[in-house]
Amino acid sequence: MDVRILESVHAVARKAADICCEWIRRKPDARLGLAAGATPQALYTELIERNRRAEVSFARVETFNLDEYLGIGPDHPRSFRRAMRDGLFGELDIDPANTHLPRGDAADPAAEAEAYEAAVRSRGGIDLQILGIGRNGHIGFNEPGSSLDSRTRVVRLSPVTLRDNQLGPPDFEEPVEAITMGIGTILEARALLVLATGAAKARAVAAALEGPLSPSCPASALRLHSDATLLLDPEAAADLRSTDVHESGV
Ligand code: GLP
Repeated sequence: MDVRILESVHAVARKAADICCEWIRRKPDARLGLAAGATPQALYTELIERNRRAEVSFARVETFNLDEYLGIGPDHPRSFRRAMRDGLFGELDIDPANTHLPRGDAADPAAEAEAYEAAVRSRGGIDLQILGIGRNGHIGFNEPGSSLDSRTRVVRLSPVTLRDNQLGPPDFEEPVEAITMGIGTILEARALLVLATGAAKARAVAAALEGPLSPSCPASALRLHSDATLLLDPEAAADLRSTDVHESGV
């Protein structure tokens, strides 16, 4: 894995945007895998600005998000679909029909998960998958214990994730299940771009890079990919022991 420590959250966002734009320049109809959550927001802001400056066009790009909460519809303020529309898609020259997330309000969630996996495959797979890492080492919503060859499926959220994602309103019943691409699905992307920033991620990053390759840390599976880049800010890198990984990867 190519592990790079950059000086700030903004430096991580700029480098990540460079990598995304390079993919789109080489392949204008690139299929990007996207992550929700706070970490990629700075990257998305950077992409919006570059799109406004006409440095990159998303007109032919297609996107597939990693995951979605179950039990809430696409317009719900807590849905990832809504967050992606408000925070990215609505600000780009992308065709909304080319932006895909699983339906959180599907009548048959297991069938929805299977159909989503099939849709990714039928389009030819993901070119560049953007990923964050949960505080407990999850990727997408693959919680600790997820099998390393898991596919897109319905999952139950762990207590840590439920706590971390509790953004209210106070009387809102938080979703306890989600549909997520599996670890095996994620590893089939042609390239992975993993972002981790802030001190809260330091332990998960160290476990992912230097701990055992194990379902107890789903992000450790990223080491199995032959074209994976991990961009860190100094806070997220603070618990790494090996100095080798800083420059040359593991
Ligand atoms: C979320 C999402 C993941 C995300 C991770 C980290 O719940 N399911 O796709 O990468 O947890 O989130 P954040 O970037 O907000 O810390």
